[in-house]
Amino acid sequence: MSTPPENRPQDILAHTDAGVTTLTLNRVDKKNSITAAMYGALADALEAARQDAAVRAVVIQGHETIFSAGNDIGDFLNHPPSTPDAPVFRFLRGISSFPKPIVAAVCGPAVGIGTTMLLHCDLIYAGDNAAFSMPFVNLGLCPEAASSLLVPQLMGYPRAAEALLLGEPFMAETALEMGLINRIVPPAEASALAQRQALRLAAKPLSALMETKRLMKKGNAAAVAERVAEECASFGRMLQEPAAREAFTAFMAKRKPDFSKL
Ligand code: COA
Repeated sequence: MSTPPENRPQDILAHTDAGVTTLTLNRVDKKNSITAAMYGALADALEAARQDAAVRAVVIQGHETIFSAGNDIGDFLNHPPSTPDAPVFRFLRGISSFPKPIVAAVCGPAVGIGTTMLLHCDLIYAGDNAAFSMPFVNLGLCPEAASSLLVPQLMGYPRAAEALLLGEPFMAETALEMGLINRIVPPAEASALAQRQALRLAAKPLSALMETKRLMKKGNAAAVAERVAEECASFGRMLQEPAAREAFTAFMAKRKPDFSKL
């Protein structure tokens, strides 16, 4: 077994200013794929933002060319998360129940959790280069982040089946039309727009923001929490099974996976 990817604190940048905590995925050389250490940093930063009464909004962003290539596949191959307190599952519970507004700036590919985490953001500004995909089945896995519930609700079952069973990507225009994102802008403008909108939110009373978000989410909250937990259990099990091992090994070896015997 290889050692986990180096824990580089700079892979997640977190800073708080004027009531806004900004979290930046900053592992561009690996396409902002997310390691266990990065999930841990994100989960901790969200928990700190949840508890800090001075924080009224959170921004999540990547780079102008890449939002996130999803889970770090080598990390999942060598160190699959197996318990509910694993960093990835902590992050999923944290973002899906986060009580304050989250604003996202998304440019370039948003793969897997790069797309599904957006289902828990409140305002999303996408670069015109944004490309969304949820190729869980292609990796021998199942959806996470309650995407098996929220994606069919958002886009209807037929389009959800293309996105989740076939793993077909969709571009920013489609995401806008389906209501996943708020606006499409040139990639160089997405972060600044997200920051401006977060500052607008941060100027508003926190109690009113939180109560409004709670009420808007209330109809789905219990079902989302239940689905996150069920998906985490399935996802954790499937990570260890032959289909996922073959997909991950093939990705690392830069070859096509062979599912013919699985
Ligand atoms: N996990 C680990 N490493 C990853 C990664 C991932 N999810 N995505 C990209 N990388 C690494 C590549 O292995 C490569 O590393 P190397 O330079 O050491 O060879 C580097 O990041 C650049 O990736 P590359 O594929 O060459 O970039 P690209 O611009 O051609 O393609 C993507 C970008 C995002 C389309 C492509 O990297 C991709 O499809 N990644 C996998 C996405 C995925 O299946 N994620 C899991 C979802 S659950």
